Amino acid sequence: MISRFYICRMKKAGILGGGQLGRMLLQVAANYPVETYVMENDENCPAAHLCDHFVKGDITRFDDVYQFGKGLDAITIEIESVNEEALCKLEQEGVKVYPSPAALKIIKNKIVQKQFYKDNEIPTSDFVITQNLLELQLQQNFLPAVHKVGMGGYDGRGVQIIRTREDMEKGFDAPSVLEKMVNIKKEIAVIVAVNDKRETAVYPSVDMLFDQRLNLLEYQISPADLPEKVLWKVEAVAMKVVKNLNSAGIFAVELFVDINDNVFVNETAPRVHNSGHHTIEANYCSQFDMLWRVMLGYPLGSTAHILPAAIVNLVGAEGFSGPAHYEGLPEILQLENIFVHIYGKKETRPGRKMGHITIISKEKQELIHQANRIKQTVRVVCRQ
Ligand SMILES: Nc1ncnc2c1ncn2[C@@H]1O[C@H](COP(=O)(O)OP(=O)(O)O)[C@@H](O)[C@H]1O
Ligand SMILES: [Mg+2]
Repeated sequence: MISRFYICRMKKAGILGGGQLGRMLLQVAANYPVETYVMENDENCPAAHLCDHFVKGDITRFDDVYQFGKGLDAITIEIESVNEEALCKLEQEGVKVYPSPAALKIIKNKIVQKQFYKDNEIPTSDFVITQNLLELQLQQNFLPAVHKVGMGGYDGRGVQIIRTREDMEKGFDAPSVLEKMVNIKKEIAVIVAVNDKRETAVYPSVDMLFDQRLNLLEYQISPADLPEKVLWKVEAVAMKVVKNLNSAGIFAVELFVDINDNVFVNETAPRVHNSGHHTIEANYCSQFDMLWRVMLGYPLGSTAHILPAAIVNLVGAEGFSGPAHYEGLPEILQLENIFVHIYGKKETRPGRKMGHITIISKEKQELIHQANRIKQTVRVVCRQ
């Protein structure tokens, strides 16, 4: 007898990239009716053993991405440097792509991204485009400035501060953007979720504090400590970015507040982001949970915080390259208000993101105190 009831097929969703962002997405996927796929060229990557189907492949190659995405209902990315032509074709063939390939194309190249802010009257620092080092040399009157390579930079590696003429040789001999140096008071990130109906949910803004030398996040605190008027400006600018990108997905907008409380967009990531990791424990719906809701067509979740939070990134210590060992964890694990996340990367390298620790507390002083304690206690090294 043919049953009159048929079972609703589980949706199939893919992630391009198998790093820590994919890993944290998969940790949440286990709570939803979804079959998960990951593509990455290393089968020992952080996300490989948490997905239902691991596919070894190159996320920058058209054929690999197209074959991977063909049978899926939805696909997302955890890094911008993916083959967007393949994503375009998949989108045309009915696969839901988060973010849209059109939005990804704008964001992927820092030159195009800056031009997008300008064209849409979104406040951002003034800039000029340089094709090579010779063109950079002609911009002495534009200093002090920050030189950013158009394609291929990541985690500070494609960014050079150019204060003087002598610094110019540190610039990029490739198409780049030269931005006026902003007199930064605060760096803020705002994460916004957008669903297929273009409904939005905004997370409380985050204060990001940087390690100047490594150009990596030192720690971050949410909600950010900003006067209400500045907070409104920050949120309004972030919303304008997302609205003009005209795509569903999760977006992390990084902004500068300068010493006169002007707000400028720095850059946007069209994906889950380091500045939202605290939302796993500190907010009702984490950024990872939110992306699954968007991809699977469920209602958006609440972005409200349960408690204020800080996160400390665990990065590979200077002078250690090889199998990772985490010093100081037993001591930190005795604290009651902390959550440890180790990403499962086999090898550490100086400055490599190896994990993070979230602290939650009603008291801001307690967050800062514990963040500093963690920074002084935990070190990612190699076992002797
Ligand atoms: N126009 C600017 N003025 C001052 N500092 C800047 C400017 N642009 C970038 N920076 C500094 O460099 C850091 C890295 O730049 P960003 O464009 O965010 O690159 P990445 O892709 O490495 O995150 C920023 O977080 C900020 O501290
Ligand atoms: Mg950045």
